[in-house]
Amino acid sequence: MKNKAFEMLNMLHQEHIVRHMKTLTESEQRAMAAHLGTLDYSVLSEGDIEEKRGTFAPLSAVTLSDIAQNRERYTQIGLQAIRDGKIGAVLLAGGQGSRLGFDHPKGMFRIGIDRELYIFECLINNLLDVVKQADAWIPLFIMTSTENNEETVSFFEQHSYFGYSPDNVFFFVQEQLPTVDTNGKLMLADKGVIKTAPNGNGGWYASMAKTGMLRIVQNAQIEWLNVFAVDNVLQRIADPCFIGAVIESGKVSGAKVVAKADPEERVGVLCLEDGRPSIVEYYEMTDEMIHRREADGTLSYNYGVILNYLFRVDKLNQTLSVKLPLHRAFKKIPYMAANGEFVKPEEPNAYKFETLALDMVKLQDDCLAYEVDRSKEFAPVKNKTGVDSVDTARELLRLNGVAL
Ligand code: UTP
Repeated sequence: MKNKAFEMLNMLHQEHIVRHMKTLTESEQRAMAAHLGTLDYSVLSEGDIEEKRGTFAPLSAVTLSDIAQNRERYTQIGLQAIRDGKIGAVLLAGGQGSRLGFDHPKGMFRIGIDRELYIFECLINNLLDVVKQADAWIPLFIMTSTENNEETVSFFEQHSYFGYSPDNVFFFVQEQLPTVDTNGKLMLADKGVIKTAPNGNGGWYASMAKTGMLRIVQNAQIEWLNVFAVDNVLQRIADPCFIGAVIESGKVSGAKVVAKADPEERVGVLCLEDGRPSIVEYYEMTDEMIHRREADGTLSYNYGVILNYLFRVDKLNQTLSVKLPLHRAFKKIPYMAANGEFVKPEEPNAYKFETLALDMVKLQDDCLAYEVDRSKEFAPVKNKTGVDSVDTARELLRLNGVAL
């Protein structure tokens, strides 16, 4: 087994790992060989391949005013679906939050100033609003990573699930992928252990399948999953009006979107790509696309995604065999150097590989773009300071009447 591992590492041009293994005891080498057998090495060849994009076209949205006119009807449809047990929510909380630089799961960050109020708590409070309105619990699946699962679960336990029903909360752990340095070499996390990182937020449904969560979905006859990010503290989860609008539209998915603040805003925009729903990143847009306008004056590529999607479960099941593209992200990744010293870099030093939830949109036949008011529903905590930071999120929470 050990020799097989050496052979494989040499073949993959990872001779430095062979050298490291040879410094270990016989039993440590056996353990490391077994560990090496569990890793996915596709990142060594696939991770930097640029995805070829198709032909983009604009996709219109149901706008704030359309929604205002139909709010009551949409809401009743959504509430009924919730009461019928057809709706589940999926919180993506496996990220490393490296930009925030907080040494715990991002949801544990205290956003309250004069009182204890955590990011997880804000999200649960928002979901509880709907639970009360519908008078029905909504199963909440929480994706964590091997790095933050234990801390996340105990945080929820310590805080009595912030008032949510523990019977309706299901934690599952996403998968990891190896990280590589700038020379494409695997890194060490510790003696005998390769450094890995969570494999991105695109693998959430596949991870639900692997961890047995889909049995819960199936048994409960959940038909739709509302997937959302941990960092938007104003996030409306299982929003009955959104659910109702998507159901009534007959489409198989929906995305909450916000109108761009200005044409140059750096957001991924929901559009069509070769006739299918897709997201075009700001850096992929030509000048013509950025400034193009519809007859009524609105930007043709106007609606930015905020990582809040509604997917139909039967359609998600059909995507399980599809391999999503791997994106490479340059990050600050702590590691163990060859001399055994542990390094915690101050600047990005290595690549991690991620699949992205937005790539799942492309696998859908269609998608309802549903506009929300950014000042009411979009307050992401990404950075320590500046744009999309703790300060901007606090400001928006206050504007929405949340006491801090
Ligand atoms: P981000 O793209 O902001 O990544 O995640 P991140 O890792 O949290 O933060 P940075 O880039 O290191 O600062 C968007 C959402 O996707 C989740 C995050 O928890 C967040 O809710 N996510 C991201 C996962 O669940 N798993 C991942 O592997 C990556």
